[in-house]
Amino acid sequence: MAFPNNFLWGGAIAAHQAEGGYREGGKGISTCDVMHGGKGRFAEILDPKAIRKNIESPEGYFPEHTAIDFYHRYKEDIALFAEMGFKVFRTSISWARIFPNGDDKEPNEAGLAFYDSLFDECKKYGIEPLVTISHWEMSINLTQKYNGWISREIVPLFERFAKTIFARYKNKVKYWLTFNEINMTLHMPFLGSGMIVDDPSKKMQMCYQACHHQLVASALAVKACHEIIPDARIGSMVASMVAYPYSCRPEDTWEKISMERNNYYLTDVQVRGKYPSWMKHFFAKNGIAIKTESEDEKILLENIVDFVSFSYYSTSAVSTDPDVAKNRGTGNIFGGIKNPYLKSSEWGWQIDPLGLRIALNFLYDRYQKPLFIVENGLGAVDIPGENGAINDDYRIDYLQKHIKAMKQAIEEDGVNLMGYTTWGCIDIISASTGEMSKRYGFIYVDKDDNGNGSLKRLRKKSFHWYKSVIESNGEKL
Ligand code: BG6
Repeated sequence: MAFPNNFLWGGAIAAHQAEGGYREGGKGISTCDVMHGGKGRFAEILDPKAIRKNIESPEGYFPEHTAIDFYHRYKEDIALFAEMGFKVFRTSISWARIFPNGDDKEPNEAGLAFYDSLFDECKKYGIEPLVTISHWEMSINLTQKYNGWISREIVPLFERFAKTIFARYKNKVKYWLTFNEINMTLHMPFLGSGMIVDDPSKKMQMCYQACHHQLVASALAVKACHEIIPDARIGSMVASMVAYPYSCRPEDTWEKISMERNNYYLTDVQVRGKYPSWMKHFFAKNGIAIKTESEDEKILLENIVDFVSFSYYSTSAVSTDPDVAKNRGTGNIFGGIKNPYLKSSEWGWQIDPLGLRIALNFLYDRYQKPLFIVENGLGAVDIPGENGAINDDYRIDYLQKHIKAMKQAIEEDGVNLMGYTTWGCIDIISASTGEMSKRYGFIYVDKDDNGNGSLKRLRKKSFHWYKSVIESNGEKL
């Protein structure tokens, strides 16, 4: 049998993409509450004027305000996860539910009680919660007052948040992740860091500085977790990037290596406790000066993660040839060049199951730490047929091929893989577009891109398929 008996099969969501409950239970407004839906979402949040307008005089439909109403329906939803046999369920804690302004002196009891009840519900079915401390959201007050993670002052605020939730949930949560896709800040500063970049010429400096603050905060969270919950395991989380050299020109391979290094330097620090040596040259060459505190080096070195988790959806190609480089594809943050050997999803993300085996081997070779795939899946349009049947064979096909690749990585390559949580196990709001129509779930949620719908939950064909995958511990695909 390829998968160990304790393999953690399950699914994943993030608080802001699922919960709704916008101002309920004392929740503060978060950075995710000020983004409109639609294909232009990323352009909107890269535009300082547009973000400020949404904060100061919000108009129109903001999908995260209501999302799929998980805030009220989590019991029904967790029962469905249990029916599929989930061993683990990944979600995040909305920082603004616990500290509505981010810098409040005391946590909000109603917010803490909500997650108590959510984790109890998981435990009732023997499902282990896997909790992301920060999944792209924070109180909007932290943007307005400090411009997000560019400010060192966010570090102790985050540490207090982390310590509060460790102390509160120490008997309920044994698997933690610090920052979701920590590399996101370099691409989408507002999403990853609640930071508005007014002057594009300062973007690099600001992003690398914000990332340094997140690295220190991540290490402080690791420290606190190890002290408060000694039997817990806490990991890093990165958006994996497999990019193929478009040609065998040496320059294309060098480009691939440079991009990979830049992508993984954050995980390098989280795993090895220090910046890679090339990074210092990179900072110097690009005129980037990272402000540090005297204790940072020690904090980073002494508090490394227990495991490495990552998201995997697609791959891309790279080239230094400007004619080739024009042919850009789309994908999870990176874009890259379209690979002619791969098919694409309806959103242009290229489908590459072997790429997952490559990512697993690459990360295991690089870090020699247990790995956890905490996001993988196909965003697709689902149209319920008569009697509400949803025959999502395309999703089954995608997941089946990716699980086969995982199996090979374990069985044939000896990769140590702890678990697998598919992304958006129930349909949720898409992070990149705010759409509902980009669905990943085994469970269909009746809601459209404009917020209309009954919110009724329906089991898709993939629901029954995944149940049997888990039941057979990955043998019946
Ligand atoms: C990852 C994020 O980047 O990709 C998730 O961690 C996100 O929050 C997921 O939802 C899929 O992206 P999208 O844009 O299809 O929702």
